[in-house]
Amino acid sequence: MFEELKPRAPDPLLDTIRQFRGDPRPGKLDLGVGVFQDEQGRTPVLRSVKQAEALLLETQQTKTYLGAEGDVEFSRALGTAVLGHVFGDGRVIGLQAPGGTGALRLAADLIRVANPNAQIWLGLPTWPNHQPIFSAVGIPLRDYRHFDPGTQAICFDELRAAMKSATRGDVFVLHSSCHNPTGADFTIEQWQEIARTLNEYGLIPLLDTAYQGFARGLDEDMAGARHVFGNCPEAILTVSCSKNFGLYRERTGALFVRAADTAKADAVRTNLMGIARTNYSMPPDHGAAIVRTILQDARLRAEWEREVGEMRGKLNGVRQKLSGLRINSLDLSPLAKQNGMFATLPLGKLQIERLKEERGIYMAPSGRINIAGLMATDIDAFAAALRSVLIDAAA
Ligand SMILES: Cc1ncc(COP(=O)(O)O)c(C=O)c1O
Repeated sequence: MFEELKPRAPDPLLDTIRQFRGDPRPGKLDLGVGVFQDEQGRTPVLRSVKQAEALLLETQQTKTYLGAEGDVEFSRALGTAVLGHVFGDGRVIGLQAPGGTGALRLAADLIRVANPNAQIWLGLPTWPNHQPIFSAVGIPLRDYRHFDPGTQAICFDELRAAMKSATRGDVFVLHSSCHNPTGADFTIEQWQEIARTLNEYGLIPLLDTAYQGFARGLDEDMAGARHVFGNCPEAILTVSCSKNFGLYRERTGALFVRAADTAKADAVRTNLMGIARTNYSMPPDHGAAIVRTILQDARLRAEWEREVGEMRGKLNGVRQKLSGLRINSLDLSPLAKQNGMFATLPLGKLQIERLKEERGIYMAPSGRINIAGLMATDIDAFAAALRSVLIDAAA
């Protein structure tokens, strides 16, 4: 059976992470892996998570099965935190999922079942895992440009032109906030225009939400996505709790779908439960139980909100420092206006390779850097390394 099976090439980013781990140089910098790091370079378990775990240890009476929907109270609490007043009108259903990736895969399977003719439109660039997730269920993919790496600006007209050229029923994947990998988010006026254009051409938004609270605040970061979700007759929103709850390996996330009426919403819910059942049966409980405990307890919730604020403060501090650097022709000033953990620097393959070989600075092959991978004390060395590869390139 396996005679003809060829080994698969490693994911380029995972390969970068592997190379970083094997690099013995003491001053090496990992700007590749997409996890938050504090000023000490740690990715700690949040204080609110530790307290919720202690509470669960004391109070949890059983670990018997939950249904394919997972923890319904978790989905309700998270739905309210993510969608605000847009959640809970009977037309919106929520389902716990194994991380943001699991939620995206559920969404992909649902789209395939509901409309086999739908195409999915992905931003150029987007999170590299979007393409394989949607391809895995056989959905035809298209791409749209939304970002100019040279000017670091949003190309809104190109997004609108792509929507105009799409077929009714197609799905547009958009990042709710802190775009991965560009950091460039839409303004609220642009989100309003997105909702109008989607409705005009009969298109469905899929709002991928992985960094709520990392840009300006928990509610502020969702204003645009909430507007789109609440103003389109049908909408899909995926949530990852990996970053803002620091629950990476607990695989915690959810999928929310808005349908035309309560009967259609129920059809969506039962189909999703069927998809979950034949895939992983039920999502893992521990992370969702933690998130539910935090969101339902005023004291723990306040602590978590403080911690999200601290993570945001670290990211914005590094962004400010980077944006003030003068590095030959490289203009880093737009980084101050961008959001979240990532930026994509307009560096060539050779420059990225030299940063790795000569300076021990690892980043994704696309030039994406994880802002959180830099400590205040690393900024000067990072700037010097960038200068060295840019000077030689200009010479
Ligand atoms: C844009 C985006 N969506 C979804 C995810 C999935 O996160 P996870 O499956 O770890 O919850 C990520 C993780 O990096 C992401 O950046």
